[in-house]
Amino acid sequence: MKIAVLPGDGIGPEVTAEAVAVLEALALPGLTLFTGDVGGAAYHRHGHPLPEETLAMAREADAILFGAVGDPTCDALERHLRPEQAILGLRKHLGLFANLRPAKVFAGLEHLSPLRADIAAGLDMLIVRELTGDVYFGAKGQRTTDAGEREGWDAMSYSESEVRRIAHVAFRAAAAAGLPLTSVDKANVLETSQLWRDVVLEVAADYPQVALDHMYVDNAAMQTVSHPERFGVLLTGNLFGDILSDLASAAVGSIGLLPSASLGERQTGHGTFGLYEPIHGSAPDIAGQGKANPMATILSAAMMLRHSFGLEDQAARIEGAVARALADGILGGDLGGSHGTAAIGAGVRERL
Ligand code: IPM
Ligand code: MG
Repeated sequence: MKIAVLPGDGIGPEVTAEAVAVLEALALPGLTLFTGDVGGAAYHRHGHPLPEETLAMAREADAILFGAVGDPTCDALERHLRPEQAILGLRKHLGLFANLRPAKVFAGLEHLSPLRADIAAGLDMLIVRELTGDVYFGAKGQRTTDAGEREGWDAMSYSESEVRRIAHVAFRAAAAAGLPLTSVDKANVLETSQLWRDVVLEVAADYPQVALDHMYVDNAAMQTVSHPERFGVLLTGNLFGDILSDLASAAVGSIGLLPSASLGERQTGHGTFGLYEPIHGSAPDIAGQGKANPMATILSAAMMLRHSFGLEDQAARIEGAVARALADGILGGDLGGSHGTAAIGAGVRERL
């Protein structure tokens, strides 16, 4: 089990250190960890946010544990040198098109949600976000119009094969869990979304056991905070998935709790090659202060054991330990508590 650990910027190194400590506490035989530079940290050291050697290490690995990228000192750089290009580049180069973002309110922790407890209790959904297409990776630029005005533009597109493969991921997840599937788009305005909807309907024919509905993204945002119980699996494109997953995480109570898995097609010995990262960013305002909540990264490590290494029991062990730590009041500042990064990590390890 070769794991490339890419801590990145801001709170990335602090939270990945705790996740690595949890993995080490499990004493899994055959675990080998490598560490590489990404993001602003890599730019400052190597002049590029995704250096060749980091990409080579990532390709060699069976799974990647990723912290966060984003560094305000890099804001003025040209776009291709900005820290975010590290994660976008890894996703694209490694073909990690399927992003799984589970968002659920832990039982008994409804009070941590900014939503009314009776509403929050219904939040337990899996967001399946397409990750290597859409307006994120289309042509883009700035130009001057005939009227002499500056204009920014970004092309949004999805090919049918891109939609089909992510739709299969979502249908398979829904079928396996016996959950309904909601495909989220903006087909009332966007052609990209119309094609998305048509292809999702075609794929649906292979999964008669899955209840499918379609929802416009604005409505989906509203339902996420008013009727979250109506969602089981939510399938959507790259941009809408980015926004809805932050919304869902805030509804859970903190962005510091939500893990993610980004999977491609390559199989490892016991699962699928993937990149695992918290959905939060680098939080430069609290970086280096030992305040960040490492739970999202720890839960990402659990997803790694499940999806890349087939270690369902160990994954569940980690998830159980996090749930018990939360129930026991081991809460970071993001949840109104006073536990720091190290104390939260230790609290989880004690409960493994
Ligand atoms: C995420 C992040 C990234 C994204 C950024 C860092 C490029 O917000 O993983 O959700 O937009 O995909
Ligand atoms: Mg995001």
